[in-house]
Amino acid sequence: MTWAEIDWNVLDRLRGLFISGEAAKGAYWTSSADLANYDLTYGERIGWKWDAVLRELDQRGWRPPSAAAPARDGKFALLDWGCGSGIAGRRMIRWLGADHVAVLRLWDHSALAADFAEQSARKSFPGVAVEHLTPGFLAGDAPVGILVISHVLNELPAGELLALRGLASRAEAIVWVEPGTQEVSRALIELREQLRDRFRAVAPCTHQGACGLLAPDNARHWCHHFAPPQPGIFADSDWVKFGRRAGIDLRSLPYSFLAMERRRKAEPEDTAAGFARVIGEPRCYKGFAKVLSCEAGGVSERMLQKRDSPGLFKQFGRPEGALVCRWTLAGERIVGGELLSRLTPGGGI
Ligand SMILES: C[S@@+](CC[C@H](N)C(=O)[O-])C[C@H]1O[C@@H](n2cnc3c(N)ncnc32)[C@H](O)[C@@H]1O
Repeated sequence: MTWAEIDWNVLDRLRGLFISGEAAKGAYWTSSADLANYDLTYGERIGWKWDAVLRELDQRGWRPPSAAAPARDGKFALLDWGCGSGIAGRRMIRWLGADHVAVLRLWDHSALAADFAEQSARKSFPGVAVEHLTPGFLAGDAPVGILVISHVLNELPAGELLALRGLASRAEAIVWVEPGTQEVSRALIELREQLRDRFRAVAPCTHQGACGLLAPDNARHWCHHFAPPQPGIFADSDWVKFGRRAGIDLRSLPYSFLAMERRRKAEPEDTAAGFARVIGEPRCYKGFAKVLSCEAGGVSERMLQKRDSPGLFKQFGRPEGALVCRWTLAGERIVGGELLSRLTPGGGI
C-alpha cells in the first residue's frame, strides 16, 4: 500500500471506532484493505513509538534473556498478542535482528488481522517462521518467549485482561507499548505491580520497588513519554492530511510502556541503579527547568537552574534519547547530572 492508494474513508471509519470506544465491542477489521490502510498510517505512527522504546532499551544495554530463546538454535521466540497489522512484532524482529529470531507467533481475535500480520512478517523476514497462535497454545502452559503487546488495553474487557496476564506470566520477557493517556498508563502501572514479584522491571523504571506514582501525592500524574516526531513529517502533504483528518497532532507522540524480564536466581547487574527517569517532558523556562523525576525513593518534582549545569539544561530542552540521569543534588535541587547514554569516563555534564 502506498499513499497514492490510501482509502481515506477506511481511515475515517477506523478513527470513529477508536474514538467512540466501539473498537472494544468485538473484531472490527472488515478486509485486508482495512489493515493495509492502518499499517501505513496509524500503525506506522505506533512503530515510531516502538522505535523510541527500543532505543531506550539499547540505552539501558538490555537484551532479552537467553531463556526467551527456548528452541531452534538458541534463537528468540516472539508472541505478538492483539497483533493488528503486526507492526510491533516486525519492529521487534528488526531490533533483535532477524537472524536471532526463530519464530513469530501472532494472535488477534480477528483472523483477518493475524493473516495480514503473517503475510507482512513473511515478506519482511523470509527467514523467520511465522505462525498463527492456536487456542490450544493460549490455554496451555508452553513457554511464550518474548511477549509483545501494543495498543490493546483500551479494547480489553476485564476477563480478557486477566487471561492476558496469565499469558504474560508464561513469558521470559514482556515489552508492552500503549498510548500515553492517564487511564492506560495507570492500567500498565497496575500490571507492573501485579507482575513484579516474578518479573524485574527493565524500563522505564530505574528501580524494583513499588511504583512511586501510586503515592497519593502523585495521583494526578501518570507515566508517559514522548517519541520524537519523524523528520520531514510536517512537510509531507500526505502525513499532514492524515493528521488533520485523524485529529492527531503530528508533533506529539505520547506513549507509555513497560519492559520486564523474569526474575532469575542470579539477577543481572542493574545498569540504571541510582539513576532517575524523567517522566513526561522537562518544562523549561527562562533560566530554570522543572522535571518530574522517578527515582528509587519516589516520584517528585525537581528543579534545575540553568547556571548550575548549562549542559544538562540544554539536554532538557532537546533530549537526545530517554532522560535517564544520575543527579547531583544540592538539597532537593539538581545541580548537575550524568545521562545513562553517556556512561563513558568524564561523561558528567
Ligand atoms: C488498536 S489495534 C493495535 C494493533 C497492533 N497491536 C498495533 O499496535 O498496531 C488493537 C488490536 O487488538 C485486537 N484485539 C482487541 N481485543 C482483542 C482480544 N480480546 N483478543 C485478541 N485480540 C484483540 C484487535 O483486533 C486489534 O487488531
